Amino acid sequence: MTTTLFTPYTIRQHTIANRLWVAPMCQYSADDNGMPTAWHQVHYGQFATGGAGLIMVEATAVTPEGRITPSDLGIWDDAHITAFTPITQFLTDHGATPAIQLAHAGRKASTWPPTTGNSGTIPPTQGGWETLAPSALPFGSESGVPEADQYATPRAMTEDDITSVIANFVAAATRAIAAGFQVLEVHAAHGYLLHEFLSPLTNTRTDQWGGDITNRSRLAVNIVAAIRERHPEVPLFVRISATDWVDGGYTLDDATITSQLLRDAGADLIDVSTGGNVARAPIPAAPGYQIPHAEHIARNANIAVSGVGMITDPHQADSYIREGRVDAIMVARHMMRDPHFALRAADTLGQDVHWPAQYSRAQGFPA
Ligand SMILES: Cc1cc2nc3c(=O)[nH]c(=O)nc-3n(C[C@H](O)[C@H](O)[C@H](O)COP(=O)(O)O)c2cc1C
Repeated sequence: MTTTLFTPYTIRQHTIANRLWVAPMCQYSADDNGMPTAWHQVHYGQFATGGAGLIMVEATAVTPEGRITPSDLGIWDDAHITAFTPITQFLTDHGATPAIQLAHAGRKASTWPPTTGNSGTIPPTQGGWETLAPSALPFGSESGVPEADQYATPRAMTEDDITSVIANFVAAATRAIAAGFQVLEVHAAHGYLLHEFLSPLTNTRTDQWGGDITNRSRLAVNIVAAIRERHPEVPLFVRISATDWVDGGYTLDDATITSQLLRDAGADLIDVSTGGNVARAPIPAAPGYQIPHAEHIARNANIAVSGVGMITDPHQADSYIREGRVDAIMVARHMMRDPHFALRAADTLGQDVHWPAQYSRAQGFPA
């Protein structure tokens, strides 16, 4: 039987209702302690009533200093468990899989929320904090951005810092499961901490955490292995940036090796994105432009993948699945434009999706 966009997808013991998923999107709407607010309840809830199979809650920091901005979600404290539970409960009640992206922003932490209209590092006098990275290289320095426009210089992590961050990810994973999340994703993309370790442009270490691709992958791999050891059954994704889009950066070949190592450490699916580590990198964004990267990783690392990036059309999304290029589709911005995109896509494609009983009188879109 042909696999389509609305064919269920089973990973370990968990079945996801379909393959049209909501990509993680920071909302910069948490309180000062990383707690979700009413915004998150409504924002994520709307995608569940809209038929999405899996909803990936935005980058959620495993430590306070791992937040991109002071308005990011966090999961570094047990108090976060009870705060997230109503969200996961609502999503589960309406047939969607609640998932969460566990994150540490590394040298891209302590920045202004874009919703404030500011950008760049928040100075310590205005509530900013010291950032951590594999090497003491500020964001922007890798691509010759004028010093005034670079982010703050991070502190190079010690062996103890690295040991702590692995433990922080595992503790965050345990809390996320306690809060009702059924899928976890480790954020190793977009120039945040784990990507900084993966890329030779941002990792100039000469110890076991730097150098060849096995060493540069070690932090992400050890985090996945440690989560897998503690939680043998949890479906575990990793988001990576499959290229830095510049010469001398992290490449698709590197990403393929990292993906093999992540698979062997217990990852179930690679969520394939690109970029974010090099300021002002030339990114040839176009509809579906990251699908070839995902397909390459699926074929050569022999692991399930999701594809993301400028996917807005039901036929486009469905064809990537039917042709076996990716196992699932993630949609970000178009889901914010049309939170019921999955209901609309199923209608357009003539495929089955679960409509909320409350919406049954509206079922079917006008031609
Ligand atoms: C407002 C916004 C917030 C985002 N936040 C995250 C995030 O928290 N984690 C992440 O991995 N990607 C994040 N992204 C990237 C998206 O998940 C996605 O990969 C990207 O937008 C491309 O998909 P699209 O063309 O469907 O929007 C964000 C994108 C947007 C527009």
